Amino acid sequence: MKILRTPKELQEYRKSLSGSVGFVPTMGALHKGHLSLIEKSVARNDHTIVSIFVNPTQFLPGEDFEKYPRRYEADKKICKLAGVEALFMPEVSAIYEKDEVLLKAPHQKGYILEGHFRPGHFDGVLQVVNKLLHLTKPDRAYFGKKDAQQLYLIQKMVRELFMDVQIVPCDIVRDEDGLALSSRNVYLSPQERQRALLIPKSLKRAAKLIQSGITDTSMIKEEMLQILRPLKVEYVEIVNKDFDAISKIEIGDSIILVAAYVGQTRLIDNIWI
Ligand code: PAJ
Repeated sequence: MKILRTPKELQEYRKSLSGSVGFVPTMGALHKGHLSLIEKSVARNDHTIVSIFVNPTQFLPGEDFEKYPRRYEADKKICKLAGVEALFMPEVSAIYEKDEVLLKAPHQKGYILEGHFRPGHFDGVLQVVNKLLHLTKPDRAYFGKKDAQQLYLIQKMVRELFMDVQIVPCDIVRDEDGLALSSRNVYLSPQERQRALLIPKSLKRAAKLIQSGITDTSMIKEEMLQILRPLKVEYVEIVNKDFDAISKIEIGDSIILVAAYVGQTRLIDNIWI
C-alpha cells in the first residue's frame, strides 16, 4: 500500500492508474463504519484510495480538533488488510493556503440542523471534499448515511459543480448494543455509553410508531424527546430527502435525525424510513 503525503504525489499516482477508482474520505480513527465503506469500494473498483485528514476548517473554535483521535499506525494496518492501494495522509499545510478561494455551503440547507448548531461546519466539509475529489478524480466516492446532511450537501455540490463522480451512500454500521459507530465514541465513559443508547432507542421507538401506522411527525418527535430527556438534545427533526422538515411521514422519503450531548460528547444519529 502506498502512503501519499502531498497533493502532487497523489496526482501523479492517480495519473498512473487505469481502470475504475473508488475513493473513501475519512478523518481516521477508523472503525467498522469506515471499513464498510472501504470494503464496498474495494469490491466494486479496480483501485481504492482512502484519505485520512483531520480537516481543521470543519471544526468550529472550541470544538475537538486538537483532541480528535489520531491513530495513524492502526489505521494504516486496517487499510492495508482491507485491500486499499493508496492512503493519502497530508499535513494541513499541504492542503491549505492563506486567504483561500472559498466554497460556501448553501444558505438554507447548509445552515439548518447540524449547520445551525455548527455554523460554518459544512463550508469546511465542502471545501475539503471538493479538494479531495479534484485530487483523486474517482469514479465513485463513498459516504455514510450516518452523516445524512453531509451526504445530502455533497450530492448537491457534485450536481451543481457538474463533477463527474458517483456518490455512493452507505448504510449506518452500529455496535451490537445499537450505538452508531463513531470516532467520537472513544470519548464516552462506560456510564455515558449506557446513556448514549437512549439515542438509538428513541430512533427504534420512532420506527415502531411508524410501523403501527402513525405518520404525524410531531407526535413521533414528542415520544422521542421523552426518551431522550436525560440527554442534552440539540435537535430531533424529521425531514424528507431534500432536507425539508415534514409534518407527515412518507415511507421511502423520510429521515429521522437526532443530535444530542452525552456529557461533553456530541453525538448524531438517524434512521431512514
Ligand atoms: P469521518 O467522520 O471520519 O467519516 C468518514 C465517512 O465514514 C463519512 O462518509 C461518514 O458518514 C462515514 N461513517 C462514519 N461513521 C459511520 C457509521 N457508523 N456507519 C457508516 N458510515 C459511517 O465525515 C467525515 O469524516 C468528514 O466530514 C469528511 C467527509 C472526511 C470530510 O472531512
